[in-house]
Amino acid sequence: MARGIAFLLLTLAALGALQRLNARHLSADQHILMPTYRSSSASKSGNTSTEGTNWAILIAGSSGYWNYRHQADVCHAYHVLRNGGLKEENIVVFMYDDIADNEFNPRPGQIINNPGGVDVYAGVPKDYTGSNVTVGNFFAALLGDKDMLTGGSGKVVDSGPNDHIFIFYSDHGGPGVLGMPTNPSLYANDFIDALQLKHDTGGYKEMVIYIEACESGSIFEGLLPDNLNIYVTTAANAVESSWGTYCPGMDPSPPSEYFTCIGDLYSVSWMEDSETHNLEEETLKDQYSIIKQRTSNHETYVSGSHVMQYGDIDISAEFANQYLGNNDANRNNSLHDQSTLSNVPLHLPSILQYITTGGKTKGVHQRDADLLFLWHKYSSRSEGTKEKFEAQEELLTELSYRMHLDKSVSLIGKALFGDGIGDSALTAVRPSGTPLVDDWSCLKTLVRTFESHCGSLTDYGMRHMRAFANICNAGVKIGTFEEASSSICSASKFSHTVSPLKVGFRA
Ligand SMILES: *[C@@H]1O[C@H](CO)[C@@H](O)[C@H](O)[C@H]1NC(C)=O
Ligand SMILES: *[C@@H]1O[C@H](CO)[C@@H](O)[C@H](O)[C@H]1NC(C)=O
Ligand SMILES: *[C@@H]1O[C@H](CO)[C@@H](O)[C@H](O)[C@H]1NC(C)=O
Repeated sequence: MARGIAFLLLTLAALGALQRLNARHLSADQHILMPTYRSSSASKSGNTSTEGTNWAILIAGSSGYWNYRHQADVCHAYHVLRNGGLKEENIVVFMYDDIADNEFNPRPGQIINNPGGVDVYAGVPKDYTGSNVTVGNFFAALLGDKDMLTGGSGKVVDSGPNDHIFIFYSDHGGPGVLGMPTNPSLYANDFIDALQLKHDTGGYKEMVIYIEACESGSIFEGLLPDNLNIYVTTAANAVESSWGTYCPGMDPSPPSEYFTCIGDLYSVSWMEDSETHNLEEETLKDQYSIIKQRTSNHETYVSGSHVMQYGDIDISAEFANQYLGNNDANRNNSLHDQSTLSNVPLHLPSILQYITTGGKTKGVHQRDADLLFLWHKYSSRSEGTKEKFEAQEELLTELSYRMHLDKSVSLIGKALFGDGIGDSALTAVRPSGTPLVDDWSCLKTLVRTFESHCGSLTDYGMRHMRAFANICNAGVKIGTFEEASSSICSASKFSHTVSPLKVGFRA
């Protein structure tokens, strides 16, 4: 209920923003609107547009030491952009900021995103941290609407029609949804609406969005129009996990004192490419191919994920420096000079293989990276100690809770669709180009209903979003779904292990 009101307020605030922006456009002289006085020299190439300002929003959607890699990705991205010439005042950073000083961090005050171990935390502005990392503040920052903000530094993308915007997001996701360290999550339809609003209010010339998350393709599949001047690439298609990298036991692995993955495969692929090549001669399409190669384990897809493109694909013909800037130090490193290509071959089995092979692995599923952390915590404690016992409890509770979520969703499917077809009805994937769900408010209602009866979905449970979407698409009444959830989960002792009353609802 409270969430419904929050969303209503958010929508009203967004409409208010639209009116204010329109008023500005109608009353102001076009010259005054153009932020040429803020023109940056970020685009150093003669051929890219030198008018306008380069803006960026960087978002790490998670919290917790086991999710180290998402905030590491975002801190690293900040330095890539700064080294490329973007200004601090034009880069808005969202990160929970609980990693550098975390009790488990072996290098207090530092964050690394590469086995080489260069600190990427120093210098990163703390625009939106902790409980200020919210969907509402992200939309406010994107729309340039300070009145819509609740907390944070007040930095927003105050952009105009000549400007270029780059958005990078890294976290857990699920079909139709991206995680945030606070609840609710970021839903695809609300994200697309905000982009449409930014477009309709003349907020940019062109925009590029890079997303690292499981099922990240589902955020745009059948949803992002191709006429908004927005080009998107995602780490994964609509139906698969994305991958953590530089995990303990991998080759290369993080320094031995790290019990957690320190990067994500798609994310480090675009950043390490950007750091080693002259982006004045590398198109976004070139970069897409490089990221795709590395993220797919050299197109074997034995493991790894499918990097996807959405929106206005023509934009990919532009040079990457238009969005990411360019580091002078790379001016002589042409992409086409093979000697500068340093793609590390990666092979990516799952956590279960990891555990059964005693840690000799090369990569980890996004959703299993926290298990990896718990496993390491458990296995590194001395036999017979209280710490070992606690670590074991923690690991077993997490595994049991995951099984509870999987089993509850499956049983609800059987109750609604019948024993034989329950699971297949829940996992069915719509044809490509079709959005995940027709009625997004139905999807959000089912998420809240499920969580009320069965417990919080957690980062792991976001994988079941497609099941809820399919239940909506099949026209099941909300009351019927509620009865099924209630009768199935009231019998489970895990229903309140992670209560949404404590952690908030995902919708
Ligand atoms: C830049 O533009 C000039 C003239 O339009 C063209 O001759 C040149 O090839 C372009 N350079 C690049 C790197 O595309
Ligand atoms: C949220 O932002 C406000 C206003 O800037 C600040 O006072 C507060 O400390 C921030 N909270 C967190 C958790 O960072
Ligand atoms: C690039 O190459 C030119 C010509 O060899 C050289 O003068 C210049 O110092 C090099 N720039 C960098 C950044 O290495």
